[in-house]
Amino acid sequence: MNSFQHNLLKWYQKTSRKLPWKQYFDVYSIWLSEVLLQQTRVQQATPYFLKFKQKYPEIEDLAAAPLDEVMKLWQGLGYYSRARNMHETARFIVENLNSQFPDNYKDLLKLKGVGEYTAAAIASFAFNEQCAVVDGNVYRVLSRYFGVDIAINSTLGKKHFNVLAKTNLYTKDSATYNQAIMDFGATVCSPKKASCSNCPLNKKCWAYQNKKVDTLPVKTNKIIKKDRYFLYCKIKNKNKVYLHKRMEKDIWLHLYQFPLIEVNKTTFVDESVYSDQVNLLLKNATYGIKNVSTIYKQTLTHQKINARFIEVKLTKALKKHKNWMAVNEKEIHNFAFPKIIDCFLNDKLLFLNLK
Ligand code: ADE
Repeated sequence: MNSFQHNLLKWYQKTSRKLPWKQYFDVYSIWLSEVLLQQTRVQQATPYFLKFKQKYPEIEDLAAAPLDEVMKLWQGLGYYSRARNMHETARFIVENLNSQFPDNYKDLLKLKGVGEYTAAAIASFAFNEQCAVVDGNVYRVLSRYFGVDIAINSTLGKKHFNVLAKTNLYTKDSATYNQAIMDFGATVCSPKKASCSNCPLNKKCWAYQNKKVDTLPVKTNKIIKKDRYFLYCKIKNKNKVYLHKRMEKDIWLHLYQFPLIEVNKTTFVDESVYSDQVNLLLKNATYGIKNVSTIYKQTLTHQKINARFIEVKLTKALKKHKNWMAVNEKEIHNFAFPKIIDCFLNDKLLFLNLK
């Protein structure tokens, strides 16, 4: 055992976090927790794990549940494709694999919604396979401790850190080691304000010794994202709504959307001017504004989209409607929308179903 492993595991023995999924050793519970934890903090995922485990104690329970119910239980956690994939995978395993999860990294990776990180976590936690997890926490701990300044989002960096993670894996107990490095990265070696002065690894930590904790890990071309502000108008006339196909040389080419008013930040933050904006869009129509949604956000590679949905009810059909199509509201799910609109529609559907 090298001193990195030794000190890390000693720290973990003393300080490990009590997390509800740690009491389960079956692959279904481990998979469930890891799917919930993708792109999500422990604190946010915890109540969802408890809810899911209570409602669907075994994989057969999850597979037998209607998707609507699963989506409802997922509500508020975001990244809804995870819920759909999770449900599909549960059904696949029950129907095609006789309810038996694959028992190794390579086959776990073939499951929908299971990437390299999740496969390594499941393989080590459930089957004690010698797989090293490599996530944001691990990049941070390794780059600081070993003083590696290769960009973590470069091809070379990914390869380098994968090798470093593998080399330092404590293979006699991969599960404990993986959980330890993750917990250590989340609580001691944190992105900001790392607890270096009382860190049990600080004596041999390159970044601490060289005062470089705040500069590691390195990420290349941190793209400066431009903020954009969208007011989508969901204009309803009886059972029809208007859709517009994006044909401009811009993001989301060929996707559909509700008629859009792009505004500047000042307008976006001032809800009292929304009706003027809708007036400009709808000119002489007679209508009422029924609802204004909360802010939806979507981060793209180069832009951050901020959007609200203004729900408008017409009292008379529009005479002319530009290049908009009037579509039966029940059929709008047949159209491809950007994720931000899909999120709004999903939230709306869940809300309606819940009522
Ligand atoms: N993030 C992803 N998987 C985790 C786990 N098992 N424990 C804590 N945080 C995690």
